[in-house]
Amino acid sequence: MQPFVTIRQASATYPVYVGRNLLDDIRSLIQSRGRIFVITSSVLRDRFGEQIAATLDADIIAIEEGEAYKTLETANEVVTQLLDRGAKRDSMAVVVGGGMVGDTAGFAASIFLRGIDLVHVPTTLLAQVDSSLGGKLAVNHAKGKNLIGSFYPPRAVISDLATLDSLPRREVLSGLFEALKGGVIGDASLFELLESPPDFDVEQVVRKAIRVKAEIVSADEKEADLRRLLNYGHTIAHGIEAALDYRGLTHGEAVAWGMIAANAIAIRRGVLDRAIADRIERAIRAWNPTPLPEGIDRGAILAATEHDKKNTGSQRVMVFPRAIGHCEVFSDVSEDEIAYGVDVLL
Ligand SMILES: NC(=O)c1ccc[n+]([C@@H]2O[C@H](COP(=O)([O-])OP(=O)(O)OC[C@H]3O[C@@H](n4cnc5c(N)ncnc54)[C@H](O)[C@@H]3O)[C@@H](O)[C@H]2O)c1
Repeated sequence: MQPFVTIRQASATYPVYVGRNLLDDIRSLIQSRGRIFVITSSVLRDRFGEQIAATLDADIIAIEEGEAYKTLETANEVVTQLLDRGAKRDSMAVVVGGGMVGDTAGFAASIFLRGIDLVHVPTTLLAQVDSSLGGKLAVNHAKGKNLIGSFYPPRAVISDLATLDSLPRREVLSGLFEALKGGVIGDASLFELLESPPDFDVEQVVRKAIRVKAEIVSADEKEADLRRLLNYGHTIAHGIEAALDYRGLTHGEAVAWGMIAANAIAIRRGVLDRAIADRIERAIRAWNPTPLPEGIDRGAILAATEHDKKNTGSQRVMVFPRAIGHCEVFSDVSEDEIAYGVDVLL
């Protein structure tokens, strides 16, 4: 089977396969030199893990599901299991799950014996359009999210659209808002697909969103410049998530509110037409993102945006749209502007 896209990063080139029921024939998409270990979650083990392990004649390892388990401890448990079961340098990890499993088990694969072959099998919309692509892996630290990690490109990404059939609506929406972000930064036709709820063409959305991200990470592997575009909506989203202790809203919903706040700042700076911002906001609200809880701590949102990894020195970096399908990075955003963006939401 031909890959849908091939991602070419400085450190590796790898195929991304997209289609329905790809998992039935996963054997033909994977070239392993040694034993294969399917790593999934206790929740997804029965749904996907066992079947994939049987098809690949692989061992299976299951970690606990949930953001609270996206830790160095869980990654270390994976390493322990790999050691106990005799994994070697030529073994391969096939990681099956959403972004939580992909990040944690992927990170474990990236450090086990200084790194073994890794294949991502993303099973959420968010993981298919975002977290499985680009080679970033991270686990959380008590002091913050995604503070420990690595850049470690996979050997392949296999996105089976059929896995999304069982995804709860809320998780679909989380990925949808990331895809909508992709539309605003790089593909107006993707944005248009998401402008008319209650339905959307999942396959087209996944394909177009993968293309946007693949093009960006192919051009720029690390956070340098172009890749920052992917952070549209994320500065204030991270603040919101931290203020809520990562509960109540999905990541995509936080990004949805973050995009609305960023647009307000962009209008005030004179870099974005109100009509375009209104169109983006209409599209977001049409999908009914969970509202910000009453009484959310404004100070906590602002404090968390200060520690944003994207900031260099005293400058704040944010991404603003110029048009639908085109965004730019601005490195001179003031604290006052960020406070203004947050206040628009409260
Ligand atoms: N590495 C990156 O570049 C990157 C980018 C974006 C997000 N992330 C990370 O991704 C994580 C979020 O990932 P997510 O949104 O995929 O959530 P998730 O991995 O937490 O999964 C959400 C829920 O969906 C369930 N689930 C997964 N697949 C399913 C399926 N096919 N059917 C039914 N249920 C299913 C899971 O069991 C879980 O309960 C965060 O930790 C975030 O930091 C990483």
